[in-house]
Parts: sequence; structure tokens; C-alpha cells
Amino acid sequence: MKKIITVLALVAAGTTAALAGPIEDRQAIMKQMAGPMKIAVGLSRGTGPYDAAAAKSAMDEIVAHTEKFQTLFPKGTEPGNGIKTQATAAIWSDAAGFKAANVKFIADAKLAGAAKDQQAFIAAFKSMQGDCGACHKVYRGAAQ
Ligand code: HEC
Repeated sequence: MKKIITVLALVAAGTTAALAGPIEDRQAIMKQMAGPMKIAVGLSRGTGPYDAAAAKSAMDEIVAHTEKFQTLFPKGTEPGNGIKTQATAAIWSDAAGFKAANVKFIADAKLAGAAKDQQAFIAAFKSMQGDCGACHKVYRGAAQ
């Protein structure tokens, strides 16, 4: 009997982990944006020679994060039913809009990563920062 209970407990734990996975992963990715963003802010304010390689590497990281991020919204991870997410229902009801917000963010990050000088970097980076807020406005709500 004890054995059966242990097995059942393990199965239950496994199920919970499987359901919580994508939510935790997408939230972790968002938090990880802070690293490359800090580098980007430094580059945009820097007074020394512009470091194009550092910009490219920070932006490559953001692009990779976002490509993964947009795949982490499976059915069953919508807000409601006690699920701890700041994602809004619009991600599922307006999937095309959410996809477009990710595509624009990735495009602006690539543009910033390809900038040859600080002026071009600042322009693309500003637009990219605007994308964070634009997406959050529609697709990120208050914590459930
Ligand atoms: C295409 C949409 C989109 C873009 C672009 C975007 N975010 Fe988010 N962000 C979200 C969503 C959706 C959530 C809520 C995720 C959840 O709770 O399941 C979120 C959550 C967050 C969180 C909270 C993470 C947590 O749970 O602690 C931070 C911090 C964050 N974003 C920062 C950023 C920054 C900085 C940028 C720009 C560099 C950015 N985001 C760009 C959609 C986006």
C-alpha cells in the first residue's frame, strides 16, 4: 500500500511540473531579458568607441529568448483557474496579434544588433524598448 501511495504521489508531482513548465519558462525568459538589456543601455549611453560586437551578442541573446518565449503559450496555460500568470487571454484570442508583436520585437532587436554605430543602435534600441511596453500593454496583465 505504501508503495502505491508513493507512486501516485510521484505521478501527481510529475503532472504538476508538466503543467507549470511553460509558464515558469516564459516568466524566467522575461527575467533573463534584464542581462542583455543592461548591456544595451550601457551601449546606448557609452561615450567611448561603439562596440558593435557587444551589441550583436546582446541582441542575439534577446532574439533567441524571444524565439523560445513565443512557443511557451500552450492551451491550458491561460489565465484563470488559479493559474499564476500575467499573460492575458488576448494571447489566445488574438494569436496573430501576439505573433506580430513577437515578430516586430525580434526584427527591431536584429536591427539594433546589426547597427554599425551608436546612433543607429540607439534608434533601433528605442524602438525595441517600445515593443516591450506595447506587447505588455495588451498581452501582459496583472498577476492572477
Ligand atoms: C511579444 C510580447 C512581449 C514582449 C515583446 C516583451 N514581453 Fe515581457 N512579458 C510578456 C508576457 C506575456 C508576460 C507575462 C508572462 C506570464 O506571466 O506568463 C511578460 C512578463 C514580463 C516580466 C515579468 C516576469 C515575471 O514573471 O517575473 C518582465 C520583467 C518582462 N516581461 C520584461 C520585458 C522586457 C524588459 C521586455 C523588452 C526587452 C519585454 N518584457 C518584452 C510579453 C512580452
